[in-house]
Amino acid sequence: MANPSRREDEIQPGARVEKRLFGSTHCQVAVIGQGTWLIEDTNAPQAIAALRRGLELGLTHIDTAEMYGSGAAETLIGEAIAGRREKVYLVSKVLPTNASRQGVLAACERSLRRLGTDRLDCYLLHWRGSQPLEQTIAGFEQLRREGKILAWGVSNFDVADLEEVRSIAGEGHPACNQVLYHLQERGIEHAVLPWCAKSGVAVVGYSPFGHRGGLPGPRSASGRVLKEIADAHGASVHQVALRFLTRNAPLFTIPKASNAEHTADNARAAALELSEAELRRIDHAFPLPRSRTLPVL
Ligand SMILES: NC(=O)c1ccc[n+]([C@@H]2O[C@H](COP(=O)([O-])OP(=O)(O)OC[C@H]3O[C@@H](n4cnc5c(N)ncnc54)[C@H](OP(=O)(O)O)[C@@H]3O)[C@@H](O)[C@H]2O)c1
Repeated sequence: MANPSRREDEIQPGARVEKRLFGSTHCQVAVIGQGTWLIEDTNAPQAIAALRRGLELGLTHIDTAEMYGSGAAETLIGEAIAGRREKVYLVSKVLPTNASRQGVLAACERSLRRLGTDRLDCYLLHWRGSQPLEQTIAGFEQLRREGKILAWGVSNFDVADLEEVRSIAGEGHPACNQVLYHLQERGIEHAVLPWCAKSGVAVVGYSPFGHRGGLPGPRSASGRVLKEIADAHGASVHQVALRFLTRNAPLFTIPKASNAEHTADNARAAALELSEAELRRIDHAFPLPRSRTLPVL
């Protein structure tokens, strides 16, 4: 017979996944979400189970892109969120090569079809290409008027690009900037993060584990710091990393996990509280790089 108290234990961590205001959108979005790059490389039932487990536990911000598996990731997500769409803050991205005004409209239709939904919560330009930003933004605005997207943002944009978006689209845009951000790559803290914080733009950090899940091991000085803090809380080093990376507004993070145990581990990060002293230790162990230019993968 099912044990009701155990079921409650499983659900509770999800209830605690913190939400915060997502840029100018008026939406409260889970600070820890789920990335999906390469998720289509995992067998579909396992990947779908991992995504659904994440949703149950409160990792309701799902990030994808038309680029991922040339649409295969979106198709898989469509299956995972069927009957659960209302729970999800769903984000996809258009490729720069499709980012003309008409191209954006067509790409969005294809993404909606694969995802099995009638709207995206936020639609991003994956990175800046050769299409004039005015064109892309005109496409985004048309989609917004038609209710096919509720907001739009950008990815891999440095401060000069962000200022250009704002000069074209005005206050409230972009809703977010999705950028590379992990413990060993804190370059956005020099300029992009302060600009976004001041301008009301959500910062969604991608590859929080450095893409391949690699965090420094306990033989290195920085890895030792992570491990000691994790051990003090009975947590994993991945949880400590996620907590640090979402330590204050306007930060969000989107770890990818195709293994449901990893998903659950990531969700439990939400319950972890790091003291000021622990945050300072991590800050010292993983110093900012000298380069002020935007890091990309
Ligand atoms: N806008 C952009 O240009 C851009 C670029 C890169 C990424 N992204 C987005 O950001 C998302 C995340 O980045 P990413 O996929 O590059 O890499 P990541 O999230 O830094 O790392 C993913 C790796 O970490 C492992 N992992 C996840 N949770 C774990 C845990 N608790 N313990 C141990 N290992 C764990 C995963 O293993 P399993 O899969 O086996 O669970 C996978 O191998 C992407 O999926 C994508 O949605 C956006």
